[in-house]
Amino acid sequence: MALKVVTIDDLPIGPGDVSGAAVSLVDTRGLGDYEACMGSLRTESSAPVLGYPSRRRFTLDVLIEEADRLALLRAEARRGLTRRPKELPPKWFYDERGSALFDAITSLPEYYLTRRERAILRVRAAEIAAITGARTLVELGAGTSDKTRLLIDALDAAGTLETFVPFDVCRPALEAAGAALLDEYPRLAVHAVVGDFDLHLGEIPHEGRTLMAFLGSTIGNFPVEARVRLLGELRDLLGAGGFFLVGTDLVKDRARLDAAYNDSRGITAAFNRNVLRVLNRDLDADFVEHRFEHLAAFDPEQELVDIRLRSRVEQTVRVAALDLDVRFAAGEEMRTEISTKFQREPLERELSASGFAPAGWWTDRAGDFALSLWRVG
Ligand code: SAH
Ligand code: TRP
Repeated sequence: MALKVVTIDDLPIGPGDVSGAAVSLVDTRGLGDYEACMGSLRTESSAPVLGYPSRRRFTLDVLIEEADRLALLRAEARRGLTRRPKELPPKWFYDERGSALFDAITSLPEYYLTRRERAILRVRAAEIAAITGARTLVELGAGTSDKTRLLIDALDAAGTLETFVPFDVCRPALEAAGAALLDEYPRLAVHAVVGDFDLHLGEIPHEGRTLMAFLGSTIGNFPVEARVRLLGELRDLLGAGGFFLVGTDLVKDRARLDAAYNDSRGITAAFNRNVLRVLNRDLDADFVEHRFEHLAAFDPEQELVDIRLRSRVEQTVRVAALDLDVRFAAGEEMRTEISTKFQREPLERELSASGFAPAGWWTDRAGDFALSLWRVG
């Protein structure tokens, strides 16, 4: 297993803001300007970040290097593009551009999830800090760790928190967030880990009382069998007394769910199609973005938003790195993501069956989104 440890001295100066400028990034920057994720290596020169005493160094563990990333992408793209129906795993959305696009999604008027979860955290963070008394806060799929600052603030105020461990497949996002957090929290050590949920959960470092947070309803992006497997792994990783905090979007009115994944500015469509750009860049493919239409619709039977790309025409796409020609029929759909919507009782049953005991259930005033806390029994 490739392991690369990078200290803050290896980072380019400044937080290199991934968030914020997403829309202009999308509109004006060429593909070549974006970084891939995971262990992709920066090529620009780096400079030491001044003013950080060495005892507060930022550590970044890279559990997956560029060569591993490309091998994984090749294997998963081949599997997904040759099966019927075709599908692509969602992790490949999140290169630097994809993460910037996701960040833009979180402030769209239609995408209520982030605002609701933040509202719950604002009210409940102190309570969560008091219940857990966490010394280590791990965040799965951390991204920019923006909402997480509310938890860090509360745990910092309670005086228990020592280390924040953001885990994500997107290295540029972790680097940017890590530098900013170090600046904002002078007492905090940040141990960021670049890895894949499917491969590296067991290598997440955690010491003492641990709170593991999984926000943004990212758990809803796992199909049910994979989700149950994940919960078992997290329970084993946390051990007795560990805490799990999970954000889940709730079943609601279909029109609002559909709107949340079909915004009027087309940011979600650009995010969905970003996976095609990743394949073009990293597997030397020749997908033409506008030949694929973004589709997202709530399926009330399965209680999930099904997110797909539909080929507008009959076409054959060449994926040179796989020596593969992929034929699409006109109207053929390829799944890129699911976003499961939850209800309290079935979720409680699922977590109990995985060895978690309920320690808190909180929703926003409208009942749109739930944040729940669980203790490994
Ligand atoms: N926690 C943030 C971001 C959610 S988006 C929020 O609540 O807004 C989902 C995040 O999970 C992204 O940052 C993405 O890079 C990460 N991610 C997706 N698939 C992953 C995988 N297989 N392994 C690790 N991280 C993954
Ligand atoms: N975790 C997010 C969600 O399920 C991911 C997401 C938001 C997403 N918008 C998207 C995934 C659009 C694919 C397409 O809401």
